[in-house]
Amino acid sequence: MSIFRTRIANDYVQFEEQIPIGQRIRYVHQHTDGRIVLWTDDEFVVFVTPAKQDATAQFIEDHVSASGLDAELKTQVQSAIEGCMQCHSFRPDEHQNAPGLGAIAGERFGSTKFAGYSAAMRAASGYWDEENLITFIEQPSQVVPGTVAGPECCRSESEGRDRQAA
Ligand code: HEC
Repeated sequence: MSIFRTRIANDYVQFEEQIPIGQRIRYVHQHTDGRIVLWTDDEFVVFVTPAKQDATAQFIEDHVSASGLDAELKTQVQSAIEGCMQCHSFRPDEHQNAPGLGAIAGERFGSTKFAGYSAAMRAASGYWDEENLITFIEQPSQVVPGTVAGPECCRSESEGRDRQAA
């Protein structure tokens, strides 16, 4: 009923995306142009193609490509960012499930238009800079005690996935 897109580095699944198809899949074939073609029990032919990335995702992709990191680190950075994007948008004006991260640098903690901030985040005083951002990603409550952005939020997504699977 679903196919899974995985990204593997060091024999370790860094990222896994479930792509629900909604029908029993009988046969999977990857076309020479990269499209994945599925043949279902109900005799449908389904073409699976990558969604057009928005400009922000493209920006991140370009930035990582140009970063000079080695291939393995690039994969890790991209996987980590995809993990954040499970909840966060990187557009400055999109705050549906979590605050949009596109314009927080230099801004006060918890100051986007996101409606679901914890009381702790709303009340926190401080401004996002490189240093506290790094600490926050490692250990959110060290920067903003009481934040609901706990380890489930901001750790790398592969750990989160392991926890979900357990
Ligand atoms: C499971 C959902 C989820 C994931 C995944 C996630 N976050 Fe969050 N994040 C949140 C929520 C919810 C908040 C708001 C926390 C609060 O109000 O206490 C938040 C808050 C933040 C903030 C503070 C924003 C502000 O407006 O001050 C930053 C920075 C942040 N996250 C960074 C990240 C990064 C970087 C990643 C990936 C490494 C990540 N998050 C992954 C849900 C998530």
